[in-house]
Amino acid sequence: MTAALAVDGLSVVYDGYYALDAVSIDVNRGESFGLVGESGSGKSTLLRAVAGLAPVSGGTIRIDGETLKGSKRTKAFYRQVQMVFQDPYGSLHPRQTIDRLLLEPLAIHGIGDSETRIARALDEVGLGTGFRFRYPHQLSGGQRQRVAIARALIVEPSILLLDEPTSALDASVQAEVLNLLEQVRRDRHLTFVMVSHDLGVVTHMCERLVVMQNGAIVERLSAKDLAAGKVEEDYTRNLMVASKGFVRD
Ligand SMILES: Nc1ncnc2c1ncn2[C@@H]1O[C@H](COP(=O)(O)OP(=O)(O)O)[C@@H](O)[C@H]1O
Ligand SMILES: [Mg+2]
Repeated sequence: MTAALAVDGLSVVYDGYYALDAVSIDVNRGESFGLVGESGSGKSTLLRAVAGLAPVSGGTIRIDGETLKGSKRTKAFYRQVQMVFQDPYGSLHPRQTIDRLLLEPLAIHGIGDSETRIARALDEVGLGTGFRFRYPHQLSGGQRQRVAIARALIVEPSILLLDEPTSALDASVQAEVLNLLEQVRRDRHLTFVMVSHDLGVVTHMCERLVVMQNGAIVERLSAKDLAAGKVEEDYTRNLMVASKGFVRD
């Protein structure tokens, strides 16, 4: 089966510094794939490079077998691959109503039937049409992240790149948003690549994962093995200890 996303020997260099150093991952269709590692290990850079937001200096990225050229991305790419960031404050324009925020991607991609699609998107993320004419600042953090998810889903992508999508949220809200993501993944047969510093989140949400350090992959694991503590590297073990509540004493 052709991988939904195949990254091969990918490097991103900033002023001689390898933020990403020859990283390779294969993500199957419908799979949820995790990226973990300490801060600065290159997780966001990997997602950003796929999205065309980081300068690639070596290696290849393929989506459904098709190689992407340089950092240029077509409109079709952004319809197929959507990104959700940690901070919904940063990604939602404060002066735009939720309606406008959801209309924008539809307009960009020339997708009609906006009334129905916006209503459906708001329903899908558990907000409902009552939220349509509110502004981001009138929403809680969890509600804002639901809007960010609706905004990603409204163009009907097949791959979501999720960069710490619930890290800014309180634990109970985080669980709700993770459940929502899991639900939409199943309903829409989506492929996820999810960054989290919380190993509990990754073992819950992902089937396989890689552990990153200094821009490189140090270990490849199934979520099952991670949960069972079957890890090879001390670095991974240290991450487990550092991830609150992951290792029970
Ligand atoms: N635009 C940039 N310019 C210079 N250095 C960068 C840039 N983006 C990321 N880096 C560096 O690359 C490394 C990896 O960053 P990042 O991918 O954000 O790590 P993570 O998401 O794992 O915390 C860090 O050392 C960071 O400072
Ligand atoms: Mg990051």
